[in-house]
Amino acid sequence: IILEGKSYKMPIVVGTEDEKAIDINNLRSESGYITLDSGYKNTGATESAITFLDGEEGILRYRGYPIEQLAEQSSFIEVAYLLIYGKLPTVEELEVFTNEIKIHTLVNEDMRKILDGFPSTAHPMGILSALISSLTAFYPESLNPNQSKEEANLTIIRLMAKLPTIAAWSYKNSIGHPVNYPKNKLDYCSNFLHMMFAYPTEDYQIDPVVVKALNKLLILHADHEQNCSTSTVRLVGSANASLYSSVSAGISALWGPLHGGANQAVIEMLEQIKADGGDSKKFIAKAKDKDDPFRLMGFGHRVYKNFDPRATIIKKAADEVLTALGVKDPILDIAKELEEAALTDQYFVDRKLYPNVDFYSGIIYRALGIPTDMFTVMFALGRLPGWIAQWKEMREQKEPIGRPRQVYVGEKERNYIPM
Ligand code: MLT
Repeated sequence: IILEGKSYKMPIVVGTEDEKAIDINNLRSESGYITLDSGYKNTGATESAITFLDGEEGILRYRGYPIEQLAEQSSFIEVAYLLIYGKLPTVEELEVFTNEIKIHTLVNEDMRKILDGFPSTAHPMGILSALISSLTAFYPESLNPNQSKEEANLTIIRLMAKLPTIAAWSYKNSIGHPVNYPKNKLDYCSNFLHMMFAYPTEDYQIDPVVVKALNKLLILHADHEQNCSTSTVRLVGSANASLYSSVSAGISALWGPLHGGANQAVIEMLEQIKADGGDSKKFIAKAKDKDDPFRLMGFGHRVYKNFDPRATIIKKAADEVLTALGVKDPILDIAKELEEAALTDQYFVDRKLYPNVDFYSGIIYRALGIPTDMFTVMFALGRLPGWIAQWKEMREQKEPIGRPRQVYVGEKERNYIPM
């Protein structure tokens, strides 16, 4: 039998053409040959009711609601509730959820001592991953796989509450500044901005334009079904590891430049083009060079074949935010020129290389004053409810411990000859 371009010895399948087709589908899923797709690995085997994604049509929905509507009309906390609990909250439910989170924004002072141990050269993502994992030391009950529903929910609330504090503190550490404590009268996004920027700018004013943009960006990043970090969270969690260590593992996966680090790579590329004189056409031509192609960052997506719906929303938001804040960033113009050229140039059209979510997000983060090293941390902040929802779903479905199927392709048997 030939499957995914490779041949295998299989039991002979008898029956009508239709029956044979069914048998082959069964072979795919039951024999584990689904793992042969080196792009998707075994993640296609996970059932989930959280995020719907149609890569052909460019559709993304959280729990059935179009991402476009949520991004325009909801707050990040509302969307977090939707992802985690499966329904949009009522006014009362949202108030309870918001207040529960506010109660837990502070982290133990001993956590600060761990933070103090990191040199200022430590990347904020490394600190974030380490400190989120160390929450297990402060809340050892989270290690109990048989936590009651209420205890499990408290673990979720604590994580939602403390991750922004730890994220902002990881930034403070990287610039050698004292940390800012949370201000619980502020909403989720404003509180994060306060912890990032209030000191040394003591008269720091939280701009509603910035808060709105941040809400939108976090919503757009809140979940994206199975991918490197999310399937990591599910896989680690499937061993009954605590939510904190599962999400810490997800943060490490996201840190990789091919995953969460992509928007930083886009900014660096746009800066490179700017430094070279800003001629986008020259770089488009270089991208087509067969021998030594220049890699255009932020274009194309493994799943989206036409366009990434998040990119359309982010592009519009980038224009609005930069105009509202009166920021003139020449790299936005370069980005637009690149996009225009790529969308009209047959070379890119044929290869379906459309701008993805990472293409414009860094430009907005920059306009909001978020430093480049923090871009992936911002992604983690947005992705948190998605990871939590996926972990919770995996636990509630009582999924067995994950064990990706391996297809052995090495030497069959070798004779050992001692030296
Ligand atoms: C994401 O949002 O997680 C990225 O687009 C990566 C992916 O889906 O593979």
